[in-house]
Amino acid sequence: MNAISAAAARTFPALLRRVTYVAPGVLALDFEAEDGGELPPFEPGSHLDVHLPDGTVRQYSLCGDPADRTTYRIAVRDVKGGRASRFVHRGELRPGVVVTLGAPRNNFAFEPAARYLFVAGGIGITPLLPMMRAATRAGTPWTLLLCAPRSAEAPFIREARALGGEVSVHASEEGTRLDVAGRLRDAPADTLLYCCGPERLMLAVEEATAHWPEGSVRFEWFTARSRPEGEVSGTFEVECVRSGLTLAVPPERSVLAVLNDAGLAVPCSCEQGVCGTCEVAVLEGEVDHRDSILSASERAANATMMTCVSRAASPRLVLDL
Ligand code: FES
Repeated sequence: MNAISAAAARTFPALLRRVTYVAPGVLALDFEAEDGGELPPFEPGSHLDVHLPDGTVRQYSLCGDPADRTTYRIAVRDVKGGRASRFVHRGELRPGVVVTLGAPRNNFAFEPAARYLFVAGGIGITPLLPMMRAATRAGTPWTLLLCAPRSAEAPFIREARALGGEVSVHASEEGTRLDVAGRLRDAPADTLLYCCGPERLMLAVEEATAHWPEGSVRFEWFTARSRPEGEVSGTFEVECVRSGLTLAVPPERSVLAVLNDAGLAVPCSCEQGVCGTCEVAVLEGEVDHRDSILSASERAANATMMTCVSRAASPRLVLDL
């Protein structure tokens, strides 16, 4: 997990250079620096904020080559009612337009391993592509299991195959749905698994690997995890030691909203617990972690919380604000 970072708030203008068809309903967008210079560096697993013309902000994984400092590539899926879909797939965001981007951040760090297993659902392949490229460059064996409704809809499949690992496509509507538990049962013990895709796939991988050593399975969530039905949370207090404020957080409001209403200006982006922008240090109290970023040990350490979704499991939280 990144340290709480001022970089989260950094933005810069970038030129949308190209829009390329990838697969049905998926377009790739290539951005360059507005002045033609180098872009800030990124690592495999990084994502960035894209500020859409209506002022909303969406996060996308960088799926290009980190060694190419001139281009950022992201992929946007056509989602019914999605804001980015409207701008990208309906042609409102065209090549030549200048867009505000946030500096890349990484909550899905690529780490050295003896072998990698990448499990992706559809556009969930995007953060994994730079990892496959890095693994190939390092001479480390890797396998990709890519799931899609139909094999023709598997995004970036040609690019993944060209990277030299073992690639298999699992198409649910063609009778080759991935048997997650069966496929993961025999994975070698030194495997590091990275997974990104829809919740159903991620939960299946999580369940099948529940007994794997901590840290050997990494997930990147694009959207918030579902919460248990009927879950309730009472009012609790947050004490902000540096500003001397104590605030009540009612059940229907987030910690983030309460802090920002009090003028504390906590930065935020996704408001779904998936990007890490609103992370705040916790000095006392027990957090009810509801984000999709922190690992089990980071949750247990209770040192930080994502204020957009996480709440208190104790009557009071003391925050370093
Ligand atoms: S704003 Fe993205 S995790 Fe809170």
